[in-house]
Amino acid sequence: MKKVILEGIGLCKSFPSGGELFRSLDAIIYDGDFTVVMGPSGAGKSTLLYVLSGMDSVTSGTVKYRGQPISGLSEKRMAELRAKEFGFVFQQTHLVGNLTLFENVAVAGYLAGKEPPKAVQIQTEKLLRQMGVGGAGDRLPSQVSGGEAQRAAIARAMIGVPGILFADEPTGALNRQNSQEVLNLLTGLNQRGQSILMVTHDMRAAARGNRILYLEDGEILDQLDLPPYEKASRERDERVSGWLSSLQW
Ligand SMILES: Nc1ncnc2c1ncn2[C@@H]1O[C@H](COP(=O)(O)OP(=O)(O)O)[C@@H](O)[C@H]1O
Ligand SMILES: [Mg+2]
Repeated sequence: MKKVILEGIGLCKSFPSGGELFRSLDAIIYDGDFTVVMGPSGAGKSTLLYVLSGMDSVTSGTVKYRGQPISGLSEKRMAELRAKEFGFVFQQTHLVGNLTLFENVAVAGYLAGKEPPKAVQIQTEKLLRQMGVGGAGDRLPSQVSGGEAQRAAIARAMIGVPGILFADEPTGALNRQNSQEVLNLLTGLNQRGQSILMVTHDMRAAARGNRILYLEDGEILDQLDLPPYEKASRERDERVSGWLSSLQW
């Protein structure tokens, strides 16, 4: 039996301007899963990710992380939880431009409360190596390729040993080759037990997940369950694309 890691119950979100996005949305994310959220632009994918990770608020409803409600936490407790339990990867790397890749990752480790410094440094080196950018630790983000910068951003997201890794269009700004490499890294992390919740527009990226949620107009219309990803297969891609076209994606 899989454990629930993250749960949204009866989520409603309306905007001061009068718009409404979620109307009693329920979402369950399981520990160890690679969960993907797909759907058209403006469907609310990013907002769902931010609401579930406590970066954005709901008008009503509850978000639970490992069974504990996080919706009512103070900003301070929420920031602590985000730093210690949640990792984030975005379309843009948001690396600090005047810090090296190594420093970007190590600083995130300190912020997540990891210690002692020596252990953080060793872990930083290990993660950068694991992400295939071990040789680029002393370079600035501007001195490496977009793919390398994104791999360093994944190392930064992992240094706090997050319970769940959130990724919003992590391959959205990358070419095919770099996308592939980033997806391979995420898949590898998941195979070693890392829970991942990823938003994507890309069918091939979605096929990495073992569960795909389809969101439209702030509602989860359907979901597709797949066996855990092992390698690229035409059959898997066709299942995903067939399912998406049945939803008129
Ligand atoms: N401040 C706001 N006021 C009104 N509507 C908003 C606001 N912010 C976001 N929205 C609406 O929420 C919807 C979802 O946005 P988003 O989560 O970014 O979608 P996605 O990531 O699926 O493209 C959009 O259609 C947008 O119109
Ligand atoms: Mg988005």
